Amino acid sequence: MFAMQGGGFLFLAVVVVLGPQAEGQPTANTEQACGRGRVDGSYMGVQGLSGNISSPNYPNMYPGNINCAWRIMVDEGQRIVIVFKALDIEDHGQCSYDYLRIRDGAGTTAASLAKVCGHTLPPSVTSSGNNVLIIFRSDYSVGGEGFDIEWSAEDLPGLISNTSCEREGGRYMGVQGLSGNISSPNYPNMYPKNSNCAWRIMVDEGKRIVIVFKALDIEDHGACSYDYLRIHDGAKSTAASLAMVCGHRLPPSVTSSENNVFLIFRSVW
Ligand SMILES: *[C@@H]1O[C@H](CO)[C@@H](O)[C@H](O)[C@H]1NC(C)=O
Ligand SMILES: *[C@@H]1O[C@H](CO)[C@@H](O)[C@H](O)[C@H]1NC(C)=O
Ligand SMILES: *[C@@H]1O[C@H](CO)[C@@H](O)[C@H](O)[C@H]1NC(C)=O
Repeated sequence: MFAMQGGGFLFLAVVVVLGPQAEGQPTANTEQACGRGRVDGSYMGVQGLSGNISSPNYPNMYPGNINCAWRIMVDEGQRIVIVFKALDIEDHGQCSYDYLRIRDGAGTTAASLAKVCGHTLPPSVTSSGNNVLIIFRSDYSVGGEGFDIEWSAEDLPGLISNTSCEREGGRYMGVQGLSGNISSPNYPNMYPKNSNCAWRIMVDEGKRIVIVFKALDIEDHGACSYDYLRIHDGAKSTAASLAMVCGHRLPPSVTSSENNVFLIFRSVW
């Protein structure tokens, strides 16, 4: 990674009392359908914080001779938990005919986390890194309803450390009050490489949090893949993202839907 550090960010968080939230949460997941005869190596990319994936036509019979692949990709520092909600795939001792396979990485040679068929729901599986590859295959004969799984991203245990940002103990820095400024470590000087900071802002029930960006100077990248500030609409990093920012242009302010936000600032080596 070309770590071009910048001066980081500074923003002001103020609390406002607003009426109840009417609209639903934005969903970050993409639910994909797999067409017939998909070739190995080409896959449907899935990103976000959680989602459901099911076999084509589910809950009706899946087609014969299909070869579907989904790759789930979450942020560095997170892993993927997959829970089986329904399974009805042609049964066989080694699952040699039709099967659902989950690999612990992005490629078809990554270690297998599960290879399943039949009707018994397997225990959930957890990836070791931030990618899984899901493959579903059927032969020409005998089918079933297929599968329905739910995945979610969670932080790798022990990831958020205070090596390069201050904190008050626990996993994050708790921030309370009616308003406050939060800035990157060392601001307005260069933020350190390999920063991994988290703040949770918590206000009284019935109130919401408005965050106004006052300064932004974070390594620029189209998808903010290297260094970024991310703001989640809730108490944890699994809550929907309100903003993911990098670069130099001040983003519009964001408003939480409830009384918590969770902020993550990361920089690469
Ligand atoms: C997945 O499906 C369940 C119902 O089985 C639903 O409650 C949940 O909201 C869905 N999750 C996502 C991320 O769409
Ligand atoms: C984390 O912060 C605490 C208190 O500020 C400090 O005592 C400790 O040495 C820090 N740990 C690391 C790994 O920097
Ligand atoms: C936040 O910083 C601004 C200066 O940028 C200052 O005027 C203001 O009082 C600070 N707010 C709080 C709550 O500390």
